[in-house]
Amino acid sequence: MNPKKIVVAYSGGLDTSVMVKWLSDKYDAEIIAVTGDLGQKSELIGLEEKAIKTGASKVHVVDLKEEFIKEYAYRALKAGALYENEYPMGCSIGRPLLAKMLVDVALKEGADTVAHGATGKGNDQVRFEVGIQALAPHLNILAPLRTWEFKTREQEIEYAKEHNIPVQATKDSPYSIDENLFGISVECGILEDPTVAPPADAYQITTNPKDAPDEAERIVISFEKGIPVALNGVTKSPVDLVVELNDLGSKHGIGRLDIIENRVVGIKSREIYEAPAATILHKGHNELEKLVMDKDTFRYKQGVSNQVANMIYDGLWFTPLFNSLLAFVDSTQEYISGNVKVELYKGTLKVLSRDSEFSLYNEDLATYSDGDKFDHGSSIGFIHLYGLPFKTLTEVRNK
Ligand code: ARG
Repeated sequence: MNPKKIVVAYSGGLDTSVMVKWLSDKYDAEIIAVTGDLGQKSELIGLEEKAIKTGASKVHVVDLKEEFIKEYAYRALKAGALYENEYPMGCSIGRPLLAKMLVDVALKEGADTVAHGATGKGNDQVRFEVGIQALAPHLNILAPLRTWEFKTREQEIEYAKEHNIPVQATKDSPYSIDENLFGISVECGILEDPTVAPPADAYQITTNPKDAPDEAERIVISFEKGIPVALNGVTKSPVDLVVELNDLGSKHGIGRLDIIENRVVGIKSREIYEAPAATILHKGHNELEKLVMDKDTFRYKQGVSNQVANMIYDGLWFTPLFNSLLAFVDSTQEYISGNVKVELYKGTLKVLSRDSEFSLYNEDLATYSDGDKFDHGSSIGFIHLYGLPFKTLTEVRNK
């Protein structure tokens, strides 16, 4: 391969900084760095200068926060997509958007190649590369971390020093952290031993539940057609709403996960996640669906949720089946409008009440008290026919 112009996904961290330099040494190519802002707290200021010093000719910093929440996170939310029933997939959802960003910049700049800093045993390489192939099949893809000579972080630091690459002397975190508005993932170090509970410093944004306020906090989230639109009666933009819920949830220790998960590449890994806003929103959204959605659609959608989650996790965002499944999900959301009140208290999240103008809950039918309108007599014939096949079967087989 003989790349002429390479667009590099750049975060400003050690791996991608070394990568920019390494690529410019190895290939006689122009290097363009691009950073997507998905709401990660890590420093975006000074990033441009740093990338230029490292060997990039140009830097793009793209604010993707709104697109990320509206077009990616909220679609996963409407789908009820939780990987292996738990993980709201902040990281997994962000990757297809970053892949799209790389492609957009590559097309704009007339680049022939894109490069990313994912490793050879993670899911992110799959998400980046499947996304890029689906969106722009003509682009070459480089993933230096899979092939380069560095085996350890120390070797990368050594190389950075030799080449005057400005890598921030950040406080040496023993963890590998990926962060965006829909959640943070923490890996490596002691966390690789699944028999050991995560040390207190593994959690980056949430208060330890036992240190959370003694006073419970109650909040109301309003949804329109499956999309959260207001907090405590005040309309919020998607990004503002998620930022506020992250703050509130963090304060009360909501949204921590410590799980073993099945990676795309066939290994199991132990992951720590913190996703306060995503956790609160999934809980509220699901509660509203329980109130409003008809039984058959609700049951069917559980399977779709699982399929959508697997496809997001597996990097299959830009695929025909995924689009079709999301179209199904959208058609189920027409009446998912209403309010859910939840209580945040020392790491627990509890639904207190729910209401909707489309609620299918009918107290006259549900009540066990006076005013019961349910026709108890109809159940006799119903159950007779409902159980008839099994009655027949047992009679035949017991003969
Ligand atoms: N296991 C998670 C996922 O596949 C998180 C990956 C996190 N990446 C990282 N660079 N720390 O979605």
